[in-house]
Amino acid sequence: MKQLASYPQAKFDVMRSLGYIGEVDGIVREALSNKRSPLWGALQETLFHLNIKLMSEGFALGTPRGELEWKIRSLIENVEKEMAPKAHIPAHIVDAEEFIEWLKARIHEHRVTDHELFVYFDKNDLSDEEIRYFLSNYRVNMQRFHLHVAAYSLFVPFKMREELYENLHDEFGQGDFEQAHPNLFEPLMEHFGGAREDDWNPETYHLLNTKMNLCWFADGLQYGLGGMGALELTIPAQQRRILANLRKRGLSEKLVKFFVVHCELDESHGDGWFAAGLPYIRSRSDFEKTYTAAMRMLDARAGVYDGILSGILRRRLESQGRKIAADQLEPQAQTA
Ligand SMILES: [Fe+2]
Repeated sequence: MKQLASYPQAKFDVMRSLGYIGEVDGIVREALSNKRSPLWGALQETLFHLNIKLMSEGFALGTPRGELEWKIRSLIENVEKEMAPKAHIPAHIVDAEEFIEWLKARIHEHRVTDHELFVYFDKNDLSDEEIRYFLSNYRVNMQRFHLHVAAYSLFVPFKMREELYENLHDEFGQGDFEQAHPNLFEPLMEHFGGAREDDWNPETYHLLNTKMNLCWFADGLQYGLGGMGALELTIPAQQRRILANLRKRGLSEKLVKFFVVHCELDESHGDGWFAAGLPYIRSRSDFEKTYTAAMRMLDARAGVYDGILSGILRRRLESQGRKIAADQLEPQAQTA
């Protein structure tokens, strides 16, 4: 949201209002009713920083920070839920297995799977700098994926944890820390010039915030199940197109290993999540929670790609504008 001129003011409004929880309801509603507005961006960035602080310093129970943060999170989640589209699950689906099959079909047809950004990868129409910008945004969520699995595992039944800890074992390189997924990503990120904080879009923050709400703070295990299961199921189709592009650029297999690993692993992870959660989704209300969370997570992931694509196109326009301005200045300079 750095691209929007009014962003600093919006950020200031959010920060100021969060200090007065009684007044913040209106500003949260305004932000969430106009997604992609500067105010929405500022809210996402603010919540992202609360989340990063939580990950590094804990929940701060019994302190003013802890109390204020619970209130803020609760308020934002209430408004999010209130504004979320209602789940429409066909009335004849009453069996959990049938529901999961139906849900997987909805997940596979979500727009994230065939996002326009991937057409740019297919056509090899991305500069190295644009790949760097993409990876930098991707990395924000990639680095913390395992934490959502770990936090979610705290409130699922013992039997279900087996699947989650297998997932974590894969995330940590199956016993070889050098091969832990965040470690595999770094050489690739460095190859393209490294990550910068000013690359990060509000949509990138929003995905992290969504994962936090669904996996760390949800009212029931169905939210994390739907959200994370949906993410895992859809990732290989996206990453195959990224991987194909990176190979076209002549990158070594070592550099692209992060994407190779995920194309192989994540579909089975997604199936594993739903198989492990199956015994715990019994009622229509469970179905609705699972479905709503799956769509919410995929919408947020698609939003990350929206943000990256619009960032790329905006940067292209800006550099075109600079070129035109320079071309116009040149003859004047010659005649001066
Ligand atoms: Fe991973």
